[in-house]
Amino acid sequence: MDLKQALVAKSIVDKKKFYITTPIYYVNDVPHIGHSYTTIAADTLARYKRMRGYEVFFLTGTDEHGQKIEKAAKLNNESPIELADRMVDKFKNLWKVLNITNDDFVRTTESRHVKQVQNAFTKMYENGDIYLGEYEGWYCIPCESFWTSTQLSLNNCPECGRSVEKIREKNYFFRLSKYQDLLMTFFDKHPDFIKPESRRNELLRRIADGIDDISVSRAAVEWGIHVPMDSKHTIYVWVDALFNYITPLGLDDPAMLKKYWPANVHIIGKEILWFHGVIWPAMLMSLGVEVPSQIFAHGWWTLEGKKISKSLGNAIDPIEITETYGVDTYRYFLLREVPFGLDGNFSYEAMVNRINCDLGNDLGNLLHRTLTMIEKYCDGIVPGHEGLVSTEENELIERSKRLNDEVDHAMSNLQFSKALESIWDFIGLVNKYVEVSKPWVLARESSTKEKLNNVLYNLAESIRIISLFILPFMPNVAAEMHKQLGLSSDENSVGNNFTWGGIRPGAKVCKGTPVFPKFEYSTAD
Ligand code: ME8
Ligand code: MG
Repeated sequence: MDLKQALVAKSIVDKKKFYITTPIYYVNDVPHIGHSYTTIAADTLARYKRMRGYEVFFLTGTDEHGQKIEKAAKLNNESPIELADRMVDKFKNLWKVLNITNDDFVRTTESRHVKQVQNAFTKMYENGDIYLGEYEGWYCIPCESFWTSTQLSLNNCPECGRSVEKIREKNYFFRLSKYQDLLMTFFDKHPDFIKPESRRNELLRRIADGIDDISVSRAAVEWGIHVPMDSKHTIYVWVDALFNYITPLGLDDPAMLKKYWPANVHIIGKEILWFHGVIWPAMLMSLGVEVPSQIFAHGWWTLEGKKISKSLGNAIDPIEITETYGVDTYRYFLLREVPFGLDGNFSYEAMVNRINCDLGNDLGNLLHRTLTMIEKYCDGIVPGHEGLVSTEENELIERSKRLNDEVDHAMSNLQFSKALESIWDFIGLVNKYVEVSKPWVLARESSTKEKLNNVLYNLAESIRIISLFILPFMPNVAAEMHKQLGLSSDENSVGNNFTWGGIRPGAKVCKGTPVFPKFEYSTAD
């Protein structure tokens, strides 16, 4: 092995890892925009990290046990597993349509998961953190949550506002109260554990107020993982579900744990932060397993101003949206429209605006007119760069360098919309460069041929760089841009040359149809 080979081999060994997850979604119903949002965000970050050389493990899956699924199956006259199988197909199909690159898909009904949850439960029982007691209180089936009388809001679930049922059962409890101080210390030492910061503070205040032990089994629920030491009980579905983040690696597989655990980030919606930020770390502490590095709780989408829900009849199928508007445009819209962490409103009008303006006018036209000029003035061949570098070019080159840092910083902080803003700021500068350089004027005289070539070279190179940065957000569009620029497929694969000067002069461009179709917005939508 020569030195270069040795270095390559070493860099493979030393690859940094990045483990990212989505919540596992309930299979009582079909996926909607909200589910696709979290998964698209996670996919975009996973793709970005892969591009930056990380060894990524990206996990999603389904949450299949519990009373909510049991009840939905009964209503449908089918068994819970039949319902789950049907819904899993829908989720998997949606992820395929949306170009999601998850490395594994965990189902909580799989035996690899079930066995490890039982082992973990036994371990916590044996170390005294789980004990038998009596539970009396309220239960919200849609949220699969226990509530005390004082927590109820107008006698309903404080989380979703729906009605709750009274339960009184002998249950197993987890000694959550024991972890209050440990959690507070952990939060103190890891200021980035919960993001955004406002949610971290909220959670910290709740912990400081005091935490009670929680019920972790149900005697009345059949559809679940049986408590190993007492098979009349099933394990509380949230305990079962949280372990999904680690069972695919193998709680008992030290090599996989060493390689990928702790997870770098669990991306979740804000309504399930208590489970992830408090119960999950406490159980891991009980087992002596490291706590994940970060939990990012994003905001909620409403649809044309209303909460998205099946009962309101407004839960449109993301597949329907993408059939009309396209997959990449949908991915772009969700991540560009609302800063990650805040709530947002989905409207067709806003989406059509973004597609027509940001995508069609700013980016699509830039590509189209550049390729048209390369065809017209250079026989469709990307020219080389010669002679001195002009002031405007320098500005472009400098801006592209800063873009690299800005995007990396934004992505590391899950600020997807900020990363896109920076990319579009660069696109704006490139469009301005076209106007200022006026290649159509330079093309009139043979004496300005060198200048013309330089301008077209710079435009092709700018587009190459743009296509790399947008790849995690819009993988199909990026691939199409590469193809149109005449780059071969290995040149557009990962790796990638984010620095100025990577375009290959002599490549034959191949202009296709415009990358983004134009849409009319009509209120009939
Ligand atoms: O809570 N806006 O599953 P779930 C944004 N199985 N995101 C939304 C959304 C909306 N309107 N609606 C749903 C569960 N989501 C549990 C999770 S994890 C160990 C167990 C997204 O099917 C968001 O990520 O109710 C939210 O947290 C998740 O879907 C809830 O999906
Ligand atoms: Mg929910």
